[in-house]
Amino acid sequence: MARDPRHDILFEPLRIGPVTARNRFYQVPHCTGMGWQYPRMLAAMRGMKAEGGWAVVCTEYNSIHPSSDDLPHPYASLWDDSDVRANALMTEAVHDHGALAGAELWYGGASANNLYSRLPTMDIRSVPNAKGHPVQSRVMDKTDIRNLRRWHRQAALRARQAGFDIVYVYATHTYLLANFLNPRINTRSDEYGGSLENRTRLIRELIEETQDAVGDRCAVAVRFSADAEIGEDGRPILGDRREMFEMLANLPDLWDINIADYSLEMGVSRFVKEAALEPYMAWVKTVTDKPVVTVGRFTSPDTMVSQIRRGITDFIGAARPSIADPFLPRKIEEGDLSAIRECIGCNVCYASDSIGVPLRCTQNPTMGEEWRQGWHPEIIPARTGDERVLIVGAGPAGLEAARALGARGYAVMLAEAGRELGGRVRREAALPGMSEYIRVRDYREQQLLGLPNVEVFRDSRMGADDVFAVEADHVAIATGARWRADRFDGETYVPVAEGAAAGRVLTADDIMDGRLPEGPVVVFDGDGYYLGGVIAERLRAAGLPVTLVTPADGVSPWASYTSERARIQTRLVALGIGIETGRVLARFDGRAALLECVYGGAERSLAAEHVVMVTARRPADALFHEIAGRAGAEGLPFTLARIGDCEAPAIIAAAVHAGHRYARELGRAVDPDRPLRHDRVDVAAPAPEAAAR
Ligand SMILES: Cc1cc2nc3c(=O)[nH]c(=O)nc-3n(C[C@H](O)[C@H](O)[C@H](O)COP(=O)(O)O)c2cc1C
Ligand code: SF4
Repeated sequence: MARDPRHDILFEPLRIGPVTARNRFYQVPHCTGMGWQYPRMLAAMRGMKAEGGWAVVCTEYNSIHPSSDDLPHPYASLWDDSDVRANALMTEAVHDHGALAGAELWYGGASANNLYSRLPTMDIRSVPNAKGHPVQSRVMDKTDIRNLRRWHRQAALRARQAGFDIVYVYATHTYLLANFLNPRINTRSDEYGGSLENRTRLIRELIEETQDAVGDRCAVAVRFSADAEIGEDGRPILGDRREMFEMLANLPDLWDINIADYSLEMGVSRFVKEAALEPYMAWVKTVTDKPVVTVGRFTSPDTMVSQIRRGITDFIGAARPSIADPFLPRKIEEGDLSAIRECIGCNVCYASDSIGVPLRCTQNPTMGEEWRQGWHPEIIPARTGDERVLIVGAGPAGLEAARALGARGYAVMLAEAGRELGGRVRREAALPGMSEYIRVRDYREQQLLGLPNVEVFRDSRMGADDVFAVEADHVAIATGARWRADRFDGETYVPVAEGAAAGRVLTADDIMDGRLPEGPVVVFDGDGYYLGGVIAERLRAAGLPVTLVTPADGVSPWASYTSERARIQTRLVALGIGIETGRVLARFDGRAALLECVYGGAERSLAAEHVVMVTARRPADALFHEIAGRAGAEGLPFTLARIGDCEAPAIIAAAVHAGHRYARELGRAVDPDRPLRHDRVDVAAPAPEAAAR
């Protein structure tokens, strides 16, 4: 396939100070849940982006000094020579594929945790920790500012030594340097506070000092917010940002522009669509001659081209689109657009970092597995034999297994009970705001079209006899899970209603099947992720009075990891959905729901004609067990596995990963005692000397 000439502009090389990017695809800094803990995994993952065609591949936030530490959220570090070696693994992997490597030097201020280093955080003022840890920062004096400048310079020198081509001054995202710019925060009375000139002084010094230290070989980039504070979506509140920007406009070699509202900049697709930063960017390129990069969960090459042609940006910045598809640039370059695995905007990637574990991605099951499992997102080893594989169920796990096995060359039969493929993503994508989730199905369905060795059988509900009759060599059951009508009390499942009232207890599946209740309805969310809120929104859209009840202290607690919790609760409030937190749905008699306070058990009655339970799921594994139960002394005439929600209900990313793992491991001997390579410090290597005290 050939590149569409309309997309040529995306492949123009562009100069950034002393270095040149081979095209306009720029992986902006993003965390990986790996940071300094898993340097080999990290290097292989970044190298994969370079192989996929990104011209610039950056680190995550890269700490310049132990007084800026963010564990349990993994970050990179440039504290000493061993960090230079660890970072060099990444720059080498990136350079091997012809891309530039960027290091985002980071100093957290009051937003850092310092739970690992146990040093006090430093900021302009003594303020409470941004993440709610019960500590405050200490106030920086002039000596601290001098120290900070020295640490920044030393880290820049280490970055150059590690082989980086671009070194950042990171002046946004509420970290220390952003606080210096903010007039509400920076009330210092010395030359670093007050006037615009004073508030920008430290950034100016750091840009100049970084250029002085490494500018002969490295470009200096500044990450900077285009607006001053969070306002209504799409309506920037500029404050004195423009004046500030004008003062620094041509100082760095590149501007990496984002915005004050992280929940918009990195918004989930339920609330934020592609190119959402455009209204904030309108003036930026008119003020500087230097190249500009910005983000917007860009997956459409036409949108990318339009952003460049209309002067919004020079580079197409991406974090999530590069995670979902590290080969996005290559696919556009080769004109293979239907092969693009588009990000669905679920922020499961971000959740990994929030929790402190290596990156996972719903769309890209190989993310984070490049080193430890040797998985490549576009290359998969050929089959080891001529066997035929039957997969029952075309949800995320079954589809991914069929796609990956098909790519390996196996003869695959994919049987789906219904007319349409997609399983849970098809059902969930029909709910309010969730439409982009269908990309999980669409990418795979599209790929199957190009695999003649994969046959798809629709409207084909399989019983055990049917499975045996197919005479496949391998059978994978991927029949998903169904939402339960009871609730889990921490030890066991308990029903909430009896008799006639039980007929008025619905599940999330009932709603997705179009079985809507009547009258006031209580949605009980014992699951804690997005679906409870989405179901409540669906019912409200049908005109019903809805109350969402949760045992947690806020709605959708798990969605704080994906950085969407506040938006979910704000949306529910705006829609007039009642919210009862810290309460369990104890009983329902068909007219009222009895809510029990989780703190002390106080009871309260809420009028309701129906309740909808979003609590836990029951694996739909009856077929698996029936087949397994027919094994005779010789076993079964085929290998049998269950994958995805049918094995263990979890998030969509887990099902896609399970389907992929099944496909990778078929016909291969996997050592169950050592299923993964383990990236950790090998104590056989000499340890650095302890510092003398
Ligand atoms: C998993 C993840 C981790 C991130 N970590 C960082 C970071 O360390 N430093 C930073 O400046 N921005 C970080 N970001 C924000 C991204 O750089 C980017 O601004 C945002 O994701 C919007 O771009 P996108 O729509 O292309 O994802 C992170 C984003 C994601 C998804
Ligand atoms: S996890 Fe979700 S948001 Fe993150 S890159 Fe993958 S598809 Fe996109």
